[in-house]
Amino acid sequence: MTDVAASKPRTGQSEEITFTLDGRPVPANKGELIIAAAERAGTYIPRFCYHPRMDPVGMCRMCLVDVEGPSGATLTPACFVEVTEGMVVDTTNDRVKKAQDGVLEFLLANHPLDCPVCDKGGECPLQDQTLAYGPGESRFVEEKRHFEKPIAISDLVLLDRERCIQCARCTRFAEEIAGEAQIDFAGRGDRVEVATFPTEPFESYFSGNTVQICPVGALTATPYSRRRTALRACSASTPSRSTTAGCATRAASATSRSTATRSTPGPGRASWPTRRWTLHRPPPRRW
Ligand code: SF4
Ligand code: SF4
Ligand code: FES
Repeated sequence: MTDVAASKPRTGQSEEITFTLDGRPVPANKGELIIAAAERAGTYIPRFCYHPRMDPVGMCRMCLVDVEGPSGATLTPACFVEVTEGMVVDTTNDRVKKAQDGVLEFLLANHPLDCPVCDKGGECPLQDQTLAYGPGESRFVEEKRHFEKPIAISDLVLLDRERCIQCARCTRFAEEIAGEAQIDFAGRGDRVEVATFPTEPFESYFSGNTVQICPVGALTATPYSRRRTALRACSASTPSRSTTAGCATRAASATSRSTATRSTPGPGRASWPTRRWTLHRPPPRRW
């Protein structure tokens, strides 16, 4: 994933503490989340819902690690708990591995086999983390959940509910960062879905950012969607054309005759690519 864990303590405190990470002492800032402190120390903890610039919600449980406590080691979401002096954290033991296997198997139980045609194919954290941390095979042989796909939640944004992993990054971004809570979860159980208000489409200046912050191919941009997967598109770095901040943007040529621009954070960037990433309407298709 491109998101980089925050290097500063979330609470603004700067007192340095020491905790034990996989058997070695590691310095951290008081108030820092385990996931961020571990990443600064060179240990990547897998994650889906965590974003360093948004409040943690502990939705996906992909970041479970073992934390020693008074009643023994407990599986704990690393994106949700702050390090404390003397804390003992294990990110590699069999219990953590089993938890990672379980979370991925659960996420994939209803996930469609869309990778070859998915916009995220080739740059998908779900693909990458399944390969790195997943169980290797599925025991799920039942019929998967089906939704109509994709549906347009605005002129510019498409939602594929089958691919959604309910990480709440889009809904949190809309509420916390864009300041316009136009999308939220509706339904229960395996029918949970991201939804707009019944009579209100998702009309946001931040549509592009909202698409970009989705870790999987659930939210896609109409100008780019289904033109090419990341694996097959030719792309090059260019300054953003939406702001003067010099944000790293990648222009991806989807076909030999048309160009659809996608914006992704540059290496090491922890945030969204531009303050407002504008989606431009697609040029007419010429095949
Ligand atoms: S989001 Fe797309 S690329 Fe990622 S695992 Fe799902 S179908 Fe495959
Ligand atoms: S649409 Fe994407 S960002 Fe939103 S909850 Fe689903 S997977 Fe997460
Ligand atoms: S990344 Fe910690 S619960 Fe999702």
